[in-house]
Amino acid sequence: MDAGVTPTMAAVPTPLGPSTVPTALHAPFDLGAWSHAQLARVEDALSRWVCSDAPAGLGEAMRYAVLDGGKRLRPLLVLAASEAVGGLDEAALRAACSVELIHAYSLVHDDMPCMDNDVLRRGKPTVHVRFGEARALLAGDALQALAFGLLTPEGPQVPPAMQATLCRMLAQAAGADGMAGGQAIDLASVGRALSEAELRQMHRLKTGALLQGSVVMGAACGQAAPAALAALSQYGAALGLAFQVVDDILDVTADSATLGKTAGKDAASDKPTYVSLLGLERAQAHAGELRIEAHAALAASGLPDTRALAALADMVVNRSH
Ligand code: IPE
Ligand code: IPE
Ligand code: MG
Ligand code: MG
Ligand code: MG
Repeated sequence: MDAGVTPTMAAVPTPLGPSTVPTALHAPFDLGAWSHAQLARVEDALSRWVCSDAPAGLGEAMRYAVLDGGKRLRPLLVLAASEAVGGLDEAALRAACSVELIHAYSLVHDDMPCMDNDVLRRGKPTVHVRFGEARALLAGDALQALAFGLLTPEGPQVPPAMQATLCRMLAQAAGADGMAGGQAIDLASVGRALSEAELRQMHRLKTGALLQGSVVMGAACGQAAPAALAALSQYGAALGLAFQVVDDILDVTADSATLGKTAGKDAASDKPTYVSLLGLERAQAHAGELRIEAHAALAASGLPDTRALAALADMVVNRSH
């Protein structure tokens, strides 16, 4: 399935930059260096697995949607969680790419005129602007199928029981009880003033579920005690909600060039957000509380080294795009 494109190191996104994050272990952790190495593997794998030879231009649209952009937070979470539990490398790389494919498909559909009607994504024209609505719809469909294909390779490299567990987790995170359900709530909430509980539920589903799913899928690539798994799941839930709270904040505070997508879109579309509900300062404070919650869950996990996960939680809350 090699499409003949070898990404160079220069093409690997380095959104995190060099940062030294103090951890509960009081040992420095260089998130920039760690991410750079992980992202090189992810970019290479995505470029091999998302092939351009699908018929009638479909492959071109799929590659356009997935490659050359994005922070790749979800793959990083999978790989960090897998590392924390000593997971199987082949399974973790497949899981990392599968969640990114679901995420990319969700962005393609999210941007379509029937949803958020956006023209800019990852600094480029959106997929439907570039290729038309029908091809954007089908590219999303095909990316979703490819995600499950990656999790179920023939051959001995990933044990069948692990394949099944990973598929179940991804289906849960992406479907009606996860991202797709959250997106339905989002669309039904335009122009409505949601309570904090309703908004939290919408954010937990539309965005949090796939981020939490990334963490638990990474953990499922290894063997961790049930208490450690529960703690990682809690970490993923706190981080997942924090991520969308910050997305709401950045929609107000950042510009389109920095975000690579249209800023100010939520207010213009009358979407309920943490900023519209709580105001900017309280939304920022809430993101900070969720960061602390994520750290506390890691501390309670009993795992010997969760520094990458801790640094990713900090990055989610402190990011500028
Ligand atoms: C944007 O996600 C959509 C949301 C779920 C809020 P990201 O901010 O992770 O987008 P990319 O992958 O970096 O483009
Ligand atoms: C998107 O939420 C969530 C998913 C794509 C599942 P948003 O609509 O807030 O994401 P952006 O701001 O367009 O990236
Ligand atoms: Mg949306
Ligand atoms: Mg949107
Ligand atoms: Mg948004």
